[in-house]
Amino acid sequence: MRVTIVLLGSLLAAVDAIKNPIISGWNPDPSILRVGKEYFIATSSFEYFPGTPIYKSTDLANWELYSHAQTTPEHVQLYGVPTGAGVWAPSLSFINGQFYLASMTRWTYDPTARVWPRVYFSSSKDLITWTKPTWCEPWGIDPSLFQDPVTGKTYLNLMAPNNNIDRIWGIYQCEVSLTTGNCVGEYISLWNGTLPHNSSARDEGPKMFYKDEYYYLLIAEGGTDDLHRATIARSSSPQGPWTPAPNNPILFNGAYGYDNFTVQSTGHATFVETLEGDWYAAFLARRKINGTSPLGRETFLTTVTWKEGWPTLNDGKPILLSESFGSTPDQTYPPPPFKDTFSNSDLDPSWYQLRVPYTNNYNTGKTKNSKYPTSGIIFSPNVFSLSDRDTPSAVLRKQKSLNMTFSAALLATNGSLGYLQSVGISAYLSEFQHQDIGIRGCVNQTGMCMYSTLLMNGTSVTNQIPLNSTSIPDNITLIIRAEPLKYTFGFTIGSEPTVWMANIASSWLAFAPANWFVFEGASFALFASGNGNPWSFDAPAVGFKEVNEVYFEEGIPDHDVWA
Ligand SMILES: *[C@@H]1O[C@H](CO)[C@@H](O)[C@H](O)[C@H]1NC(C)=O
Ligand SMILES: *[C@@H]1O[C@H](CO)[C@@H](O)[C@H](O)[C@H]1NC(C)=O
Ligand SMILES: *[C@@H]1O[C@H](CO)[C@@H](O)[C@H](O)[C@H]1NC(C)=O
Ligand SMILES: *[C@@H]1O[C@H](CO)[C@@H](O)[C@H](O)[C@H]1NC(C)=O
Ligand SMILES: *[C@@H]1O[C@H](CO)[C@@H](O)[C@H](O)[C@H]1NC(C)=O
Ligand SMILES: *[C@@H]1O[C@H](CO)[C@@H](O)[C@H](O)[C@H]1NC(C)=O
Ligand SMILES: *[C@@H]1O[C@H](CO)[C@@H](O)[C@H](O)[C@H]1NC(C)=O
Ligand SMILES: *[C@@H]1O[C@H](CO)[C@@H](O)[C@H](O)[C@H]1NC(C)=O
Ligand SMILES: *[C@@H]1O[C@H](CO)[C@@H](O)[C@H](O)[C@H]1NC(C)=O
Ligand SMILES: *[C@@H]1O[C@H](CO)[C@@H](O)[C@H](O)[C@H]1NC(C)=O
Repeated sequence: MRVTIVLLGSLLAAVDAIKNPIISGWNPDPSILRVGKEYFIATSSFEYFPGTPIYKSTDLANWELYSHAQTTPEHVQLYGVPTGAGVWAPSLSFINGQFYLASMTRWTYDPTARVWPRVYFSSSKDLITWTKPTWCEPWGIDPSLFQDPVTGKTYLNLMAPNNNIDRIWGIYQCEVSLTTGNCVGEYISLWNGTLPHNSSARDEGPKMFYKDEYYYLLIAEGGTDDLHRATIARSSSPQGPWTPAPNNPILFNGAYGYDNFTVQSTGHATFVETLEGDWYAAFLARRKINGTSPLGRETFLTTVTWKEGWPTLNDGKPILLSESFGSTPDQTYPPPPFKDTFSNSDLDPSWYQLRVPYTNNYNTGKTKNSKYPTSGIIFSPNVFSLSDRDTPSAVLRKQKSLNMTFSAALLATNGSLGYLQSVGISAYLSEFQHQDIGIRGCVNQTGMCMYSTLLMNGTSVTNQIPLNSTSIPDNITLIIRAEPLKYTFGFTIGSEPTVWMANIASSWLAFAPANWFVFEGASFALFASGNGNPWSFDAPAVGFKEVNEVYFEEGIPDHDVWA
């Protein structure tokens, strides 16, 4: 299936060939940075907490989740944010021996709310402990910091509107104080990109770097859907004027007349130079599965070669899923399974909560409670559910493969769940679109039921089966089977065969109602909820003793053609 292509100039000492996506599961707007022998990539996290994951690699092929840049409520304002708002498009820089992360937070995008995206940066010596945000004066999107190696001046580049009436977006800049975040030089319009410049224009994601006496301004254009692309310009000054590259767009899978490639929406690139002097571009792209991308926008990498001071990406060819690069063997796929028994008092960092948690929503580890002699995650359910724009008692992990199972074994209870009390798992996209299976007090009848609820554009379809038990026994596992084209929801009790209760086309995990956006991809959630009522004082404690993910060969073709 995979073809290893040895490209000129990619003599990177990689352990494995570089295979796309390099970071699977939704991880858009990658910003790549090398410091010494280590590479780092930060990606957008939207309404997920902690914010802004930072991945680390030493070979560009294998990436581990290393840290997060916003780890306390003081670092990030996410109260009540809808799907797709929150923290966007981080940009990593290394200035005066410190890491800097510039980013943006957006409480909502509804213009009637009159809250505009506000940019900030924070700094860190080790990428683990970060300062609180320093707020910048301009409002806008996709900020990045660039220190001019020639003058030592630091610039804030961002996408911003020309004013708050016409709102024609372009790339703007000022020299910035790293102490106050204020502009200490003129705030100027830098470049308006290569496309017709009107209020539909989305020239965004400015990244600046210096190479061989030229300043380069790398941006994204065309919006983040199928017209997304990367373009570049250069200048002899960080303040312009800018000469666009003769080969723009330098990255654009849609440019080849092929809207049938699986890899689409290629753009929002940043460049990195290896110690050996090879160049690579990290960028976002979608894997389209019969027209939609349930995993959202993932992080990809490709080669950059230079000629006469202009870069060419992937030798000027489209990005194909089957291609890997580097002179070493392909990575082993599928990856080993993931298992979590929640035996530590801290959650594995790959689990997230929604928005900013301000109550204690779960406990993990070995419980002092004699109810649960084993370890597990025990929820402190609140009034909110996955449908609310608040922080339910839920933890979520990004879906990492298009062909996998996610299963979770319930902890036993010593009592029954009442009306409105639920515990379960979910294939989650947003407060509008999450597909759940679990246990709750039955609707319209007494006792507890296994139930599934599918949400499709505001319509919900529920199914329930009586549990025939007055407590949750210790032998029930909830299962989501995720395949490229569909998700199937089931449960097993003891060694009985799996009972499949519901299935849904994967396109519903890539759907937003009108006027809302799909900026994330699917995650898997564990949750418990009082569904509007407090969890009563005498209701049993609920939770899970174990989660397992098993990955299969994905077998995704280069063209988005499904029989
Ligand atoms: C970009 O467009 C804006 C709005 O039309 C205009 O004010 C600005 O001068 C333009 N900037 C450049 C560098 O051309
Ligand atoms: C902006 O220009 C593009 C290309 O000409 C056009 O398709 C689009 O409709 C224009 N948008 C507005 C708001 O005028
Ligand atoms: C993809 O589209 C191109 C251009 O229209 C066409 O030539 C090619 O046959 C298509 N490929 C597949 C696999 O459908
Ligand atoms: C692909 O999506 C279309 C709707 O866009 C649907 O009618 C068709 O059944 C899907 N194909 C498969 C193989 O699921
Ligand atoms: C079972 O629940 C009762 C209250 O309903 C509680 O007093 C008791 O401690 C629980 N038993 C165990 C083993 O946890
Ligand atoms: C409960 O009863 C109402 C009214 O008859 C019905 O509309 C609804 O579908 C029932 N719910 C379930 C889960 O059976
Ligand atoms: C979603 O629902 C809205 C409002 O009922 C409707 O206008 C729209 O066509 C629906 N979209 C889909 C894809 O079903
Ligand atoms: C409970 O009993 C009913 C009736 O026998 C049966 O249909 C249902 O499948 C049982 N529930 C479970 C979870 O096995
Ligand atoms: C599941 O566990 C319960 C409680 O221990 C037991 O009564 C039941 O027989 C078990 N079911 C299966 C299918 O093993
Ligand atoms: C998904 O994995 C299953 C189980 O290994 C396999 O049978 C199936 O072919 C895979 N699907 C794709 C699209 O590769």
